[in-house]
Amino acid sequence: MKRDFLHVSDFSSEEIVETLELTSWVKNKLKNDRSYFPFKYQTMAMIFAKPSARTRVSFETGFFKLGGHALYLGPNDIGIGKRESVADIANVLSRYNDIIMARLFKHDHILELAENASIPVVNGLTDYNHPCQIMADIFTIYEKLGSLDNIKVTYIGDGNNIVHSWLELALRIPMHFVCACPEGYTPDKHLVENVKANSKSIIEISHDPYDAVKGSNIIYTDVWASMGQKEETQERQKKFKDFQVNKKLMSASGTETYFMHCLPAERGIEVTDEICDSKYSIIFDQAENRMHAQNAVMIKLQKDSK
Ligand code: CP
Ligand code: NVA
Repeated sequence: MKRDFLHVSDFSSEEIVETLELTSWVKNKLKNDRSYFPFKYQTMAMIFAKPSARTRVSFETGFFKLGGHALYLGPNDIGIGKRESVADIANVLSRYNDIIMARLFKHDHILELAENASIPVVNGLTDYNHPCQIMADIFTIYEKLGSLDNIKVTYIGDGNNIVHSWLELALRIPMHFVCACPEGYTPDKHLVENVKANSKSIIEISHDPYDAVKGSNIIYTDVWASMGQKEETQERQKKFKDFQVNKKLMSASGTETYFMHCLPAERGIEVTDEICDSKYSIIFDQAENRMHAQNAVMIKLQKDSK
């Protein structure tokens, strides 16, 4: 038996809370006592079909600091789904390694990878979702607010992979989540309906960013054109022009509101420098917490897979 982490909702509500507690514990452990090596003599294969700064560095350093060794397999190395089938890669990597982390284009490929691997698989982003990012984000919010009760998170921009993982979280942890996006850029309808029908969360899809941010604890944004969509950049900049996170939009929340961004940011496009560098911006805390949240996820998967 082995467990994977492909969607935030692969974990139950209790397991998400348990993972947040473990994140806090392992973060503290790494900062104060460098003698905890749960991954000693272990290896992690990291498959990257897309570029990355945070995901690569946080997984590689996190795994190393906990005693293991991580291998970077870039877009030109194994050619997953092109040079070799996803299933064959899954089988081969399972013979050498203890865990796989993969950043892929097609979500179906991460599902196939996990299905065919005999070791835990962690999703490091697909076109559909980015669960590790949102585990780090909710941990960061918990650190800042001290509680997850009655939080309102407003996401401004494209209804993309980041939004899908917020929705997966909202399926398990009650919250008020608003996605304010231009028409035609809404998140997956089936997922939205599923969360509305099967959780205590309040989910809204809005096309009015100024109305959406009212009373928000968090205003979150991401690039308007994700990896794989960069040829749409100009068209999207026109369609998204009223969705920039700037001083006017931040003040429209009418309350004390933190600014979040998964990064990389296109400063001056979806968010102004002024907001990125303001005292309400917690973007680098998020980035740091990627490592701690992922460490906790990996420790949990290994424990559950024994
Ligand atoms: N937030 C995030 O996943 O960053 P990278 O694309 O740099 O890994
Ligand atoms: N939506 C962005 C997130 C990057 C971390 C992308 O997929 O490019």
